Amino acid sequence: MLKILILPGDGIGVEVTNVSLYVLKALGEKLNIKFEFESALFGGSSIDAYGVPVTVEVLKKAKSSDAVLLGAVGGPKWDNLDYEIRPEKGLLTLRKELEAFANLRPAVVYPSLQSASTLKSEIVEGVDIMVVRELTGGIYFGTPRGITKLSNGEERGVNTLSYTTTEIERVSRVAFQIARKRRKKVTSVDKANVLDVMELWRRTVTRIGKEEFPDVELEHLYVDNAAMQLIRRPRSFDVILADNMFGDILSDEAAQLTGSLGMLPSASLGNGRAIYEPIHGSAPDIAGQDIANPIASILSSAMMLKYSFNMDNAADEIDKAVRKVLEKGYRTGDIYEKGTTKVGCQEMGRLILEEIRKQ
Ligand code: IPM
Ligand code: MN
Repeated sequence: MLKILILPGDGIGVEVTNVSLYVLKALGEKLNIKFEFESALFGGSSIDAYGVPVTVEVLKKAKSSDAVLLGAVGGPKWDNLDYEIRPEKGLLTLRKELEAFANLRPAVVYPSLQSASTLKSEIVEGVDIMVVRELTGGIYFGTPRGITKLSNGEERGVNTLSYTTTEIERVSRVAFQIARKRRKKVTSVDKANVLDVMELWRRTVTRIGKEEFPDVELEHLYVDNAAMQLIRRPRSFDVILADNMFGDILSDEAAQLTGSLGMLPSASLGNGRAIYEPIHGSAPDIAGQDIANPIASILSSAMMLKYSFNMDNAADEIDKAVRKVLEKGYRTGDIYEKGTTKVGCQEMGRLILEEIRKQ
């Protein structure tokens, strides 16, 4: 029995997770996989019910589950709260508590969606990138942090960017291992020309590469250059390894290569524990209208089958079905183009399920 904790969260997180759950259940029946699902409030909806974005009980449940499937958190309603009790803080706490230190964000350009990108078709054609972002360290968690009043009446804001060797080593290994199963190239992103911590980053990644993964090509880019090369020669990237903040930024940039944030899943892996979630946010402006794209969430459950349960075939079934539905011209609003058929969130899920049943 595979225990999965479902945290739909806020906004469209709820709709897309429902659809993805429905696909997962049906796939489970088809392939005779025994899932046990449990749902809980998370993010803004947890703040409304319990005053905190994640309860101790939910953290416990997450730790005793085999995987967590998350929707999205946040919304204008909670934007003025203290950082400590904002929906986003719930997400950071969950990542930290589960030690989900390696965040995998694939950015794949589907042939049928090539023209949906804001970049020229010939530039994005064939792009298949895996961003591996460090997720439980760096400036997101470093101390000291905070805003203090100075004696002259001014305020001073501080955050700390720090990494230990161990933190860099473990996420590097994940990146190299993934590259080994792909095109055997890692591009490590840093700012070693300015920051001491990034000098340690570069040195450590270089050592792990040399000692443990000599068969994988390693390229180093400064983050500013990486941001540029990503839109200049996106096809030349295979695995991008970056720290928490650079990875946050570059993964959005990589996502835009594909045309829609609504398509991209993610996996956050730790020591045997994992969180799966779409890259997109809670999109409060379109929430509750059944128009959100459920594909990122559906592909996140495919990543769960692959990375948590080693069920590559089951994951492929989902991948293939998604490609099929796109090839047939069905689109949610975010990826709609003239000449295609616009469908809603639930209908997109139903179409994908129909393909899975046919396979
Ligand atoms: C992401 C998001 C989060 C992050 C926010 C919501 C805390 O942007 O998952 O990329 O910065 O990590
Ligand atoms: Mn982000």
